[in-house]
Amino acid sequence: FRVPESMVAWAQQFQDAMMMYNCAIREVKTKLEVLNDELSVRNQRNPIEMIKYRIKQPHSIIEKLKRKGFPLTLQSMTENLDDIAGVRVICSFVDDIYALAGMMMRQDDVHVLQIKDYIRNPKDNGYRSYHIIAEVPVYFSDQKSFIRVEIQIRTIAMDSWASLEHEMHYKREGGNRALIAAELKHVADDLASCDLSMQTIRNMIREEEA
Ligand code: GTP
Ligand code: MG
Repeated sequence: FRVPESMVAWAQQFQDAMMMYNCAIREVKTKLEVLNDELSVRNQRNPIEMIKYRIKQPHSIIEKLKRKGFPLTLQSMTENLDDIAGVRVICSFVDDIYALAGMMMRQDDVHVLQIKDYIRNPKDNGYRSYHIIAEVPVYFSDQKSFIRVEIQIRTIAMDSWASLEHEMHYKREGGNRALIAAELKHVADDLASCDLSMQTIRNMIREEEA
């Protein structure tokens, strides 16, 4: 059978958009790596443990547009979805999160659209992370485009909690839901308390070094 011309054009535009999101991820990753390199030379330590990134899969894009009641068009996708390009930064200490976030947001080509501080204001289920929605410029052959990226910055402890919580799919099942949620919240708070202790220890060491 023949694929209609309109569908071919649409597929090309979609592929184009995904390419742009991938480039934006690379820009953000480079910015973070530059900061990490500079800070590691200056302070003899790396504030970033790891950088992860992912691009949202087409089926997830469609599912989210449907769920939120947005039109299933490319324009709707770029206007309404903030997390097609996602970068996750895992930091050693809580203070590193705020330091890195500040450095990123002060860069004059980073256009910050939204900040969610789920560290100072954790979600009810215990989720903690610092979220930045920003647009970064990507230079193509004939144009400069500002592309939206969601940056999540968290400690190792926050990341391990979020990863396991995400994996468990407990929200769907019945019976023990409330108990499971309470236990997970408990673990999140314990981990936050560990992060606080680690930060305190780190500060004590720094004072001795000074
Ligand atoms: P979305 O519709 O998911 O974009 O929600 P939102 O626009 O209110 O964004 P929010 O900042 O709350 O969450 C964005 C992302 O943060 C999610 O896609 C997850 O990656 C992560 N996140 C937020 N809440 C949780 C949570 O309770 N558990 C886990 N594991 N991740 C979360
Ligand atoms: Mg969102």
